[in-house]
Amino acid sequence: MKHSIVETKIGLMGALIVLVISIGGLVEIVPLMFDREIVEPADGIEPHPPLVLEGRDIYIREGCYNCHSQMIRPFRAETERYGHYSLAGESVYDRPFQFGSKRTGPDLARVGGRYSDEWHRLHLLRPQDLVPESNMPAYPWLEERYVDHTRTARKLRALRLLGHPYSDEDIEGAADAVEGYTEMEALIAYLQSLGTNIQGRR
Ligand code: HEC
Repeated sequence: MKHSIVETKIGLMGALIVLVISIGGLVEIVPLMFDREIVEPADGIEPHPPLVLEGRDIYIREGCYNCHSQMIRPFRAETERYGHYSLAGESVYDRPFQFGSKRTGPDLARVGGRYSDEWHRLHLLRPQDLVPESNMPAYPWLEERYVDHTRTARKLRALRLLGHPYSDEDIEGAADAVEGYTEMEALIAYLQSLGTNIQGRR
């Protein structure tokens, strides 16, 4: 029986398993790479301005994604609570994207504009002052530290290599655009930008 050859040679079986899985992967993944709705920015989606980009890096550094997703699923219970479901074209300038699935706290994909800057500041300084039952940790140091402006231009340049359409002026002005801002201000600028760019989908 030919089949017993496969079953008794583990190396061969491993190679065949990898082959079968890669065909499955290719059939699912490759067409997505050519689907314009997925790989091109949705209407109104622009690369992050420098301060928002730095705020995003702080969001990642502080591990906010461990408790917050940024992906609204296309279900009634989700769209009623958070707004229009997330579109792939909204995340083309997010590297890495922050979809996540762990929701100890609410989804943040469309939190931009929902609260004032001052609300966010007080909330990040001590969440329990605003939401007594919250188990979100406090981030008081964000108010005391300034954004490291020395690397912002390099970040923009690296992203441009990956296809984010930053102009030479954007890159030249990047350091000035973030210098003197606290990490708190950068993070709030990022939070306020979430989900606000997509047109007519809120
Ligand atoms: C241990 C889990 C945890 C971590 C880590 C965490 N959060 Fe939260 N977050 C929560 C919970 C729970 C709530 C809901 C209660 C509240 O509003 O405080 C929340 C609420 C929020 C809200 C309000 C959302 C809304 O729609 O009402 C924002 C904004 C937010 N978090 C931002 C952040 C940011 C930014 C970070 C990282 C600096 C962060 N969170 C880290 C658990 C967490």
